[in-house]
Amino acid sequence: MLITFEGIDGSGKSTQISYLKDKLIQKGYRVEVFREPGGTDISEMIRSMLLNPEVDIDPVTELLLFSSARSQLIAEKVLPLLNQDVMVILDRFYDSTTAYQGYGRKSLPIEQITQVNKTASHGLEPDITFYLRLTLEEAAERTKHVLKDRMEQSGDSFFKRVFDGFEKLAEITPRFKTINSAQEPHQTHADIMKIMDDFLT
Ligand code: TYD
Repeated sequence: MLITFEGIDGSGKSTQISYLKDKLIQKGYRVEVFREPGGTDISEMIRSMLLNPEVDIDPVTELLLFSSARSQLIAEKVLPLLNQDVMVILDRFYDSTTAYQGYGRKSLPIEQITQVNKTASHGLEPDITFYLRLTLEEAAERTKHVLKDRMEQSGDSFFKRVFDGFEKLAEITPRFKTINSAQEPHQTHADIMKIMDDFLT
């Protein structure tokens, strides 16, 4: 089973992923977590290029670099683990590409981004996607003391388009489960478990 977490920067994905991982292990499942971009040697090298504030990257190059990091992670790690019935949790997947490179950067029309996403993910689709929803104002409050990487230095209007992109995806994609991430973290976790319990028979 493939579970993905999505949301704007500061939406609390890492905390919720570690709660979910612990809970699933307690229940006896084998679980692996990866972050995107990252999770393999090549993907981590690409990550450091993508997040380096000292380099300029053309929007299409950026799209293809995120996609290259993904292709390697899926081929090298995720597909083999899923074949062994391990539960895989991804901290971001191709919906981030649609939101950031599609709606945010407008690198290519959304239909073309969708095609690139299919290629980069080797056709793999998440079983469930938790969209941790937080307004831009709430997210800015949480991240105001954190050093910003290249993506996070992209400006308010970029992040507004990314947020609107996620909202649109949540509206049109049945596997998206929208979770209010402005609540106390244990309450957010409880909301996630309510949905997960339907999947864990
Ligand atoms: P990261 O530090 O992992 O951010 P977060 O903790 O918020 O997930 O950095 C990943 C950054 O890359 C984040 O700003 C989102 C961005 N990103 C894209 O623009 N496109 C993508 O396809 C992915 C996976 C991430």
